[in-house]
Amino acid sequence: MAYANSVFKDETKLDISYVPPRLIHRERELQLLNEFFSFILKAPGKMAQRVIIAGAVGTGKTALAQRFGADITRKAKTQNLNLGYIHVNCREYRGSLFLIMHHAVSAFYPNFPKRGFSSEELLKIFMQILDEQDFHVILTLDEFESLVEREGSEAVYKLTRLQETRLDKPQRLSLICILKNLSVLESLDPSSRSTLQSNIIKLDEYKESQLIDILNDRVKLAFKPFTVSENAVHLIAELATSEGGNARFAIELLWRAGKYADADGLSTVTPECVRRAV
Ligand SMILES: Nc1ncnc2c1ncn2[C@@H]1O[C@H](COP(=O)(O)OP(=O)(O)O)[C@@H](O)[C@H]1O
Ligand SMILES: [Mg+2]
Repeated sequence: MAYANSVFKDETKLDISYVPPRLIHRERELQLLNEFFSFILKAPGKMAQRVIIAGAVGTGKTALAQRFGADITRKAKTQNLNLGYIHVNCREYRGSLFLIMHHAVSAFYPNFPKRGFSSEELLKIFMQILDEQDFHVILTLDEFESLVEREGSEAVYKLTRLQETRLDKPQRLSLICILKNLSVLESLDPSSRSTLQSNIIKLDEYKESQLIDILNDRVKLAFKPFTVSENAVHLIAELATSEGGNARFAIELLWRAGKYADADGLSTVTPECVRRAV
């Protein structure tokens, strides 16, 4: 057994890419996101939505969007509605609209060539694919700052105006833009800004008590019963609060503290393990 002499039962539940089934203390924000997109399940094609999720590092922006995306595509499936959720980290694609759109097209055509097209052509091709396959897509542009920094207003303009140039056709592409600080929007031209700015979900930094709840939930998923002391969880939450209410910091610290416990052959993760793991 992989975890025979370990405090862990499933370390993958602490991976940065793991999206928990429940997002504690983000129920209202998830509900709001669902409200903004409720039209898609009722009248797909009638409109295209744009939503901004803003908040500091580790406030759950990425997790919130991915939880929402997984939930809504599951609901769409039960209605036989072709709805895709595509989550792109703009920074991973160096903020290039071309690479971002190539990634989006690749969701439908995995071997789509990288050469011979401009980003504008890729946008057109993407919309064509959606028309041909009668698909609707929610495209999340995570770390949106990268795109604005690299491509400026123009790329955002192209993306947000895409629907307006196809007035006679169904609306198929909705956007969720994720950013740390709303001030990035100030660098956009007024019309791009105004099409983006209307629906904003702001995530506040987690308080210590909220981080304790998030940690306890993750402890249950990733650790064997009674292997993490309450004091250890409290210390992690305290440290993560001083790091700006950062849940990512908290979960990484929890994982590393578990590693220290395992390395020392301990049966429980103690505050001492946490201190060593900082
Ligand atoms: N409300 C929450 N409930 C459970 N886990 C959460 C919650 N908020 C954040 N997390 C977890 O904390 C980590 C950081 O969250 P993330 O969404 O990556 O933050 P951000 O994108 O804002 O930097 C991830 O592992 C995520 O699963
Ligand atoms: Mg993120």
